[in-house]
Amino acid sequence: MSEFKRNTSDPDTSRRGFLRGGALAVGGAVGGMAAALSARAMAGEPSELITQVQEWNQIPGDGVDAAPYGVPSEFEADVVRRSVPWLTADPISSVNFTPLHALDGIITPNGLCFERHHGGVAQIAPADHRLMIHGLVDNPLVFTMEDLQRFPRENRMYFLECAANSGMEWRGAQLNGCQFTHGMIHNVMYTGVPLKLLLQEAGVKPNAAWLLAEGADASAMTRSIPLEKALDDCLVAFKMNGEALRPEQGYPVRLVVPGWEGNMWIKWLRRIEIGDQPWHQREETSKYTDLLANGQARRFTWEMDVKSVITNPSPQAPIAHGRGHAVLSGLAWSGHGRVKRVDVSIDGGRNWQTAQLDPMRMPKSLRRFYHAFEWDGTELYLQSRAIDEFGHVQPTKTELRSARGENSIYHNNGIQTWQVRGSGEVENVEIS
Ligand code: MTE
Ligand code: CO
Repeated sequence: MSEFKRNTSDPDTSRRGFLRGGALAVGGAVGGMAAALSARAMAGEPSELITQVQEWNQIPGDGVDAAPYGVPSEFEADVVRRSVPWLTADPISSVNFTPLHALDGIITPNGLCFERHHGGVAQIAPADHRLMIHGLVDNPLVFTMEDLQRFPRENRMYFLECAANSGMEWRGAQLNGCQFTHGMIHNVMYTGVPLKLLLQEAGVKPNAAWLLAEGADASAMTRSIPLEKALDDCLVAFKMNGEALRPEQGYPVRLVVPGWEGNMWIKWLRRIEIGDQPWHQREETSKYTDLLANGQARRFTWEMDVKSVITNPSPQAPIAHGRGHAVLSGLAWSGHGRVKRVDVSIDGGRNWQTAQLDPMRMPKSLRRFYHAFEWDGTELYLQSRAIDEFGHVQPTKTELRSARGENSIYHNNGIQTWQVRGSGEVENVEIS
């Protein structure tokens, strides 16, 4: 209590001290902001917020144990996963979306990772969970969760993108918000055992070439994965961002298949069968293939192509500050490796400028970009275009359609356009 009293006993002195510090900062690095801030003062914004001692500065708040498991501020109540009611018939086999417009950096907080289930969320006690490896192996094995944690483990950060992300946009601009157009993606640091070590323990036979991963949920989701990928960088993960996987993400254990379509990342992983050919399950025949204009289907399109989206401004995050200095921001990723460059355009792709890439750059992980510009209050058409370290360039939607036709649902990595109106409001549009 005395701490609070001392801080506020001489509001006049502390106010002048604060203003002095603020003026120094403005005079230094961010010249463009100074105009905006003094404009705010001249516009007559009531000054009580800085001159008066506020309630929270006088009354102590909750003690340390008010929230044994911390939750976000009540003022962040809008930052939640959201679904699109008309998109699926039943919440048991449905999807919700990560609020990309409300996040910064590259980590998706656990409670905001989008969910995609085909048979609801299985609730499994770790003590009752088993993972079996069998088929073309010398020693069929069954692991408990305790067994798994006695193998050497690694920490790695990867994005998971559902192949259906942006799927509603194939035939034109549809959903109004990057949460809905691009929010079937999350980026998490996983702790897990390299799948390679478990396969070595079982002893894979020389003629083995494929594995089948199966979930313990009511959908018993199954996917064929080439052995080469399993031995390369797949993880059997039990932690996300340092804590146990959330039930929605496959607690107690899920498969991590870096850079490849989300459907292959089997949650509640219970069985891995080793074989010499793919199984052609439902999720790799009727689903997750791309029907081309000539009636043929692309199958096994595992790698998620290079892609990006501007998260701010975007329809759910309009420009609120009016004309002047503005900063746009977004996310870029590639299932092939690292993002090398992101170009941004504010005039619908006529002129491009290289965005500032955040230094955190991991392969098959999200990369944050920023771009500062002066907004004169005229209409803008914002676009971003990502390029990865192997030279893959994100295509326009027109390029994508001319190559793949318009029958597809999956694997839409086309360039997104946001129209910014004079009011600062933003809309999902397409320009040709
Ligand atoms: N694994 C199981 N067992 N059951 C499922 O329904 N859905 C898949 C995949 N793994 C699914 C599953 C799909 S289509 C995607 S996009 C990802 O999990 C979604 O992972 P998330 O819920 O962690 O976002
Ligand atoms: Co999916």
